[in-house]
Amino acid sequence: MKHKIAILASGSGSNAENIFNYFSEIKSSIEISLIITNKSDAFVLKRAEKLNIPAVVISGKDMKDESLVTELLKKYEIDFIVLAGYLLKIPDFLIRMYNNKIVNIHPALLPSYGGKGMYGDNVHKAVVEAGEKESGITIHYVNENYDEGKIIFQAKCEVLPGDTYEDVASKVHKLEYEYFPKVIAEVLSK
Ligand code: GRF
Repeated sequence: MKHKIAILASGSGSNAENIFNYFSEIKSSIEISLIITNKSDAFVLKRAEKLNIPAVVISGKDMKDESLVTELLKKYEIDFIVLAGYLLKIPDFLIRMYNNKIVNIHPALLPSYGGKGMYGDNVHKAVVEAGEKESGITIHYVNENYDEGKIIFQAKCEVLPGDTYEDVASKVHKLEYEYFPKVIAEVLSK
């Protein structure tokens, strides 16, 4: 079955690019049809331009505008939403409209190191400071609360003595690149 995905990202967008490349390379019927960001200077916009993916900037305020967002998603026939480093809360109308059709990746093993303020390097710093022996990724459905939707998949990596938060970030990113596209494909095949 054909699927059209919108990826929401606030920053670099390396996951967005990786997901796009994965589905292009395997010539999948899953297409990344739209990128949405809340930041006009996010690097993900440069990636979208390079990859020829339509991209729009929608501020946090506009994201709460139901008709604006609905129209946009309708225009691109979006049937699934992927959050890849998107830092804003998803409005309730969108969660209702895309019930079990929004997934997020979190760069730690939820339920640990989740919740408000726990994003990007904050997560990896907290993991190192706590002396954890492992970290990893969590891919989950999105519900009304930060990082609390049903967990779909987790993968772990070791945190070695002496690892910096940058080391942990790099191990976690490797897991994200390896598993996120495959898990999206798996969820869509159900
Ligand atoms: C990733 O680590 C993701 O898990 C987190 O934000 C980061 C986004 O990285 N939610 P990028 O923008 O895909 O490079």
